[in-house]
Amino acid sequence: MKTLLRICALLYFICTVTSYEDTKACLTKKYTANSCSKVFCAPWQRCVDGRCICKLPYQCPKNITFSVCTEKKKVFANYCQLKSAECTNSIFRFSSEAPCPETFNLSFLKNEQGKKSGIIKVKVPALSSSSLLCSSGWTTKEANVACKQLGYNQGADSSAEQTFILPEAEKKTTDCLSVKCRGLETSLAECLLHKKTEIEDKRAGVVCYQDTRECLDNEFSCVNGKCIPSKKSCDGENDCGDLSDELCCTHCNGSFHCKSNTCIPNRYRCNSETDCIGGEDEAFCEEKNEDKTSKPIDGRSEKPQEKELEEEHIAVNRDMDEERRLAQSFIPTLTCGVRPQLHTRRKRIIGGELAVKNQFPWQVAIKDGNALNCGGIYIGGCWVLTAAHCVRANQPQKYRIMLELLNLVHHDQDIDSYPVKTVKVHEFYNPDTYENDIALLEVINIHKKPECMQYDNNLVAACVPWSPYQFMPGDRCVVSGWGRQEGLAKVFHLKYGHVFLMENCSSVYKERFLDKMECAGTYDGSIDACKGDSGGPLVCFDINNVAYVWGIVSWGENCGVAGYPGVYTKVAKYHEWISRIVGRSLISKYNT
Ligand SMILES: *[C@@H]1O[C@H](CO)[C@@H](O)[C@H](O)[C@H]1NC(C)=O
Ligand SMILES: *[C@@H]1O[C@H](CO)[C@@H](O)[C@H](O)[C@H]1NC(C)=O
Ligand SMILES: *[C@@H]1O[C@H](CO)[C@@H](O)[C@H](O)[C@H]1NC(C)=O
Ligand SMILES: *[C@@H]1O[C@H](CO)[C@@H](O)[C@H](O)[C@H]1NC(C)=O
Repeated sequence: MKTLLRICALLYFICTVTSYEDTKACLTKKYTANSCSKVFCAPWQRCVDGRCICKLPYQCPKNITFSVCTEKKKVFANYCQLKSAECTNSIFRFSSEAPCPETFNLSFLKNEQGKKSGIIKVKVPALSSSSLLCSSGWTTKEANVACKQLGYNQGADSSAEQTFILPEAEKKTTDCLSVKCRGLETSLAECLLHKKTEIEDKRAGVVCYQDTRECLDNEFSCVNGKCIPSKKSCDGENDCGDLSDELCCTHCNGSFHCKSNTCIPNRYRCNSETDCIGGEDEAFCEEKNEDKTSKPIDGRSEKPQEKELEEEHIAVNRDMDEERRLAQSFIPTLTCGVRPQLHTRRKRIIGGELAVKNQFPWQVAIKDGNALNCGGIYIGGCWVLTAAHCVRANQPQKYRIMLELLNLVHHDQDIDSYPVKTVKVHEFYNPDTYENDIALLEVINIHKKPECMQYDNNLVAACVPWSPYQFMPGDRCVVSGWGRQEGLAKVFHLKYGHVFLMENCSSVYKERFLDKMECAGTYDGSIDACKGDSGGPLVCFDINNVAYVWGIVSWGENCGVAGYPGVYTKVAKYHEWISRIVGRSLISKYNT
């Protein structure tokens, strides 16, 4: 099996898992705003094993903007540091920009013991007296923040009206503060507050949710235990308060659908902050902006008026969402998976296409003595990813890593090759079942440069995926290798073919298809796809054309027979394992 080079031709395959079952399986995972396989972590967190974990304050970006105070008047150098401290201890709740002679206070207008609902008021440090909150623009997400601040961890009851008629005594005051939250804040002090007047006799309040009942059939069950009306799930708005109602959605109602099956509000589209983990919400934004400018005149004439109104309203606190975004922008991101421009024309041949120089700049070959049977994928530093069945752990000196090898016979003599220092085979690799068919090779840093293998050549690291939702069934990806066709002459040139990711392959391979495997093949049965040698890469490109090593060529049955797709090691499921060996910062594209 190890040296078996594979060709697959698939006429059809069955992928019968309905979106309903998909959603059900997703919901059992109990994803929340802290699940980084679905959303990006806040700048004061990092992504570890699918969860957003608090950073230590010193790990925040060092860029100081302004210092801030907690409700207990403790001063932090910046917002990120305060939030990372609050992450582990809730007493460090944000109050205001420093200095802090006074603190932010939220209470009910009529305060009583154990009160859960009613009009609320805030005392903002910048204002001498407390203020009521305007009813306009007050939505469930603001009410959720207020309830959480008042100690109701499930947030607001999203089936209840969150505004109330003013008592007679208060009706003469038209002043109020309008509130705009993102929905994941822990205090209204972090939301943007503007002075406004409101003639209406209603003001913002809360009906906080505190219940442990079972949800009804027409309700969605939030991870925090709250029940919300079903029609409020998958609408882009965080009704649950923990975001769990927006994270398992094959369709989105009146909102933007991220490929990872999450819904985000339409206002997050083209707002210069990436919200979909695949970046779709910030793609093709030039086109969208062009649309805007080409709007008819009467559509535009509303704008100046809106602007004028906005200016009248005076902000009474700093925009902490802006601060959050700034902190995020200071966090370095890893560059990987970006190819140099390709110029050469491609030549199509039967059974795959010949790769051109720089087309797969992460592809390497693993030389085992004099034999060249396996491919590998460069992932950065001195590290190459391959299949466990390609290597043996105790004999690193047998292997050499070959770079820039397009043609196995007519290659340049000065081709780069590196001796191997360490071989790390997965501890639970099972050669009988091909479970955990993954291994890492570390080469000797012969140039003694931090770039290691990337020194003085065109090698590019493929990005390592961190979430199994970055690419989905039906996505078209590329497999490459020096695959040999059975019964035909040896193929010496690096080839590639397009394949489609498939749903759960249990229907084809029964119990041999395991959790951390992925199937990929072609719908039309063309013979040129699903070709590659063991250990080589199945690479998927995101919307910005960044390459991720999605799979490692592992095994397949009845290769070349319709209906039997190739099976790959699903790399996203091994992000932690790889991180542990090569170091988190080498492969963490975000949230390092
Ligand atoms: C702050 O961030 C900016 C933009 O990334 C950068 O140019 C600048 O060097 C940073 N300053 C410090 C002190 O880190
Ligand atoms: C906040 O306001 C409530 C009600 O007005 C009051 O009882 C409480 O002492 C205030 N807390 C602080 C820290 O000022
Ligand atoms: C979609 O959202 C609207 C409100 O925005 C709601 O009235 C409608 O019932 C929702 N549709 C579904 C299918 O949930
Ligand atoms: C695939 O589907 C079967 C049932 O159809 C299920 O038992 C199994 O857990 C699924 N496997 C994966 C990896 O989702």
